[in-house]
Amino acid sequence: MIDVARARAETPGCAGNLVHFNNAGCALPPRIVLYTVVAHLRREAETGGYEAADEAVDRLQAVYASIAGLLNCQPDEIAVVENATRAWDMAFYALRLGAGDRILTGRSEYASNVIAFLQRAHRSGIAIDVVPDDAAGQIDVAALARMVDARTRLIALTHVPTSGGLVNPAASVGAVARAAGVPFLLDACQSVGQMPVDVERIGCDMLAAAGRKFLRGPRGTGFLYVRRAWIERLEPPFLDLHAARWTAPDRYEVVPGAHRFECWEVSGALKLGLGAAVDYARALGLEAARERVFALGAMLRERLAALPGIAVHDKGLEKCGIVTFTVAGEEAEAVRRRLRAVGVNVSTSTAAFARYDLEPRGLSALARASVHYYNTEAEIDRFSAAVSGS
Ligand SMILES: Cc1ncc(COP(=O)(O)O)c(C=O)c1O
Repeated sequence: MIDVARARAETPGCAGNLVHFNNAGCALPPRIVLYTVVAHLRREAETGGYEAADEAVDRLQAVYASIAGLLNCQPDEIAVVENATRAWDMAFYALRLGAGDRILTGRSEYASNVIAFLQRAHRSGIAIDVVPDDAAGQIDVAALARMVDARTRLIALTHVPTSGGLVNPAASVGAVARAAGVPFLLDACQSVGQMPVDVERIGCDMLAAAGRKFLRGPRGTGFLYVRRAWIERLEPPFLDLHAARWTAPDRYEVVPGAHRFECWEVSGALKLGLGAAVDYARALGLEAARERVFALGAMLRERLAALPGIAVHDKGLEKCGIVTFTVAGEEAEAVRRRLRAVGVNVSTSTAAFARYDLEPRGLSALARASVHYYNTEAEIDRFSAAVSGS
């Protein structure tokens, strides 16, 4: 069980009167993350950036083991990059796809991923097929199994969408992918940190995530997992002297392991901060995080649904800490600004971020409140009062 009082005491952002329900945007970091980033920046200023990296070489290396422990994989299957999109792109653009090849994806796929599909569809004639939702609003796994054919080269799924509380049945999708021998790329940007995400249990071959969201790491961090059996088959879209070696005037060799998806120049401070966030999350326990985050999400959904003029829009059998809603007669952006003015942080999700999901439901924009384990029942009271304007 999460010790909420302790988690709040360890979170500088919880010290004041702020209600931070924008954890799906960027969560409040624990003090250890802030301290780790600042300490390394200070050390860079004192002794030189390269020299500070030399001093921290073991701690920088340990970040891979931390992330591997989080996801249940090996450190050399992890690349640390600057955000979830770049992580996802490095895997996706490394896949060899040609005219007639097919990608299967779900209705909750994130905009940046779909834009990448479309770019490759326009360039090289791949086909994108969107698997329908089932009656509960999650990806229809039976339909997916029926849609997989000999031309299917990728199954790409967003685990938890930007646009709602849905948790897609990733392990069932993984079982379909495994049975069909098709690689499975999971966008776990919104799920990592608020629930256990185990690449063996899910059966994904590639996974992308961000540091700043439910993991509570610094902005500008993300990571990619690629299953060992796939790493050597993927030549990343960009290579530098860290991802490859220049072995002769006219030759290069891509390095073994997932470092091939990285770049030489990184922020040591942010990387160490990401490692500190992962260690913090693992020490608290991802199962305990899930229990509290999902319970707070359910409570928030129930409270909002009981308010006049409020409609809650989350789909799925299993729902997480993301709660989306509309207020009758008020634009989502106006709701966000009104709440911000009284010290309550939420964000919005528009159709441009999740067109496959929101457009068929006739929704153009939603207000999005997303809770973390350090949020409290009293904050939900304050939030509900603020939403209803009382
Ligand atoms: C589901 C999902 N995937 C990917 C991303 C992109 O993450 P990043 O901004 O770290 O590239 C987001 C960001 O909100 C997201 O919600």
